[in-house]
Amino acid sequence: MNIVLLGPPGSGKGTQAKMIADKYGVVHISTGDILRENVRNGTPLGVEAKKFMEAGKLVPDSLLIDIIKDRLAKDDVKGGWMLDGYPRTMPQAEAMDQILPNLGQKIDVVLNIDVPDAELVKRVTGRRMCKCGTTYHVQFNPPKVAGKCDACGADLYQRADDTEETVKERLQAYHAQTQPLIDYYDKRGIVATVVGVGDIKEIFGKVAVALDKI
Ligand code: AP5
Ligand code: MG
Ligand code: ZN
Repeated sequence: MNIVLLGPPGSGKGTQAKMIADKYGVVHISTGDILRENVRNGTPLGVEAKKFMEAGKLVPDSLLIDIIKDRLAKDDVKGGWMLDGYPRTMPQAEAMDQILPNLGQKIDVVLNIDVPDAELVKRVTGRRMCKCGTTYHVQFNPPKVAGKCDACGADLYQRADDTEETVKERLQAYHAQTQPLIDYYDKRGIVATVVGVGDIKEIFGKVAVALDKI
């Protein structure tokens, strides 16, 4: 099964992705995580991407299309993948339509996580991350010991783009550039929308109902 996750910043893509990957055995590919790793390592891609990410703007399409082309050609994704954060613009979606047939792949479902803007700012500004990939929220999903990861004990940190000003920019980019993709895929009848407000496990229950239909 090949899944595209769509949803605004803070909607719970990463949170749900972890549970989806565990249950369905698909490989989780987060373009945000790939970019952040490049920023950390100071690669040419990371140096270029950093200025856009810290301003809450989308990184240029050509860079993202190259990342995805390379990643989907690797052997480990042959059993199914889940894209978290790609595509995010019409040119990225159109590029996927070129790339996938050449790889003998297709998108089976676009899982659209719907959360109102008012909820998103507090989610993003209260988010805490661990280098092992686990995500917390100081209020909505706190770790057992403040500032430490339940899974591995490491210190939690905040993402550089999780400030109130940057979140507003990211929301604007979402509405202008990413939201139109819901219509684009809806015309193919492959969109499943789940309301992403409420208990994290209950939302996963609704996600699983949608995925079990595929
Ligand atoms: P990316 O890393 O993809 O960030 P994003 O889309 O802004 O989404 P987030 O990761 O912020 O949110 P999420 O939906 O994963 O939510 P999470 O589960 O963590 O991209 C970052 C940047 O990289 C972009 O701005 C852009 O610059 C660049 N980029 C990446 N891909 C690109 C592309 N294709 N093209 C161009 N540029 C690209 O949850 C958020 C918080 O809420 C957590 O604290 C969590 O614990 C909590 N939470 C989760 N669910 C619930 C719930 N139900 N109730 C209460 N709290 C909850
Ligand atoms: Mg994420
Ligand atoms: Zn950890």
